[in-house]
Amino acid sequence: MSGAAEWHNGFFKNSFYNPASPAAVEKAPAEAAFVLKQLKLEKGSALLDLCCGPGRHAVEFARRGLAVTGYDFSAEYLREAAARAKKRRVALQLRRGDMRRLPWRGEFDAVVNLFTSFGYFLKFSDDLKTLKGAARALKPGGLFLIDVINGDFIRTNYAPRDWHDLGDHYLLEEREAARGGIYNEWTRIDKKSGRIQKKTFFNRLYGRAEMTAALRKAGLAPLKFWGGFKGEPHSEESVRLICLAKKS
Ligand SMILES: C[S@@+](CC[C@H](N)C(=O)[O-])C[C@H]1O[C@@H](n2cnc3c(N)ncnc32)[C@H](O)[C@@H]1O
Repeated sequence: MSGAAEWHNGFFKNSFYNPASPAAVEKAPAEAAFVLKQLKLEKGSALLDLCCGPGRHAVEFARRGLAVTGYDFSAEYLREAAARAKKRRVALQLRRGDMRRLPWRGEFDAVVNLFTSFGYFLKFSDDLKTLKGAARALKPGGLFLIDVINGDFIRTNYAPRDWHDLGDHYLLEEREAARGGIYNEWTRIDKKSGRIQKKTFFNRLYGRAEMTAALRKAGLAPLKFWGGFKGEPHSEESVRLICLAKKS
């Protein structure tokens, strides 16, 4: 198994993968509340939701009085974010672009990157470009909060394959360890039409040690780690790795 370096170009389409599934949308208000509790921002503060996707968290941040910018590569997800904002009667600034090329300098009080929207590149230097761009986009002393699947958990609970029943489709996830990460092949089988789609993606694994090193290289000093959105303490066994860091 291997994957194209720029695999994200064809992967993030609702016909294959929808980050705003009903279950994910239901969790978003509590996740956003946890994030805002840690960021302690004043009303009107500027927040960048980096890789905002269909905007399920971005609208929650905007509802709580922040000036929210959502940035994502997928035009389809950004259209959905705009529609979600309209429906919820909140303002969102939305901008399309690649996370390795963030256009801002010193504009945001905080940047968030949620739901494993990181570690997608075959070259670590591309992940670092993303983190450096986030640091550059922050005001001095600004905060960065990142939420990814915990690399240490994946390494110790490695399963070569899993099946999921996701309502209208089944998903077969197959994995193969690669240097620094995992190649994943997803097979989506539509229950009604029987249509089968396969796509491969790469995910660099970040445990606490790797995340700490990467953030520091980008000029972001880790302040605190959690293992989940209920504020669980982080351990090697946590499913998630959530880190709050400060522009140093
Ligand atoms: C797992 S989804 C999470 C979306 C959103 N944060 C959420 O929680 O619903 C990952 C997101 O990263 C975006 N993405 C993938 N590669 C990207 C890139 N190179 N630059 C910017 N966004 C990218 C995808 O379009 C997708 O919206």
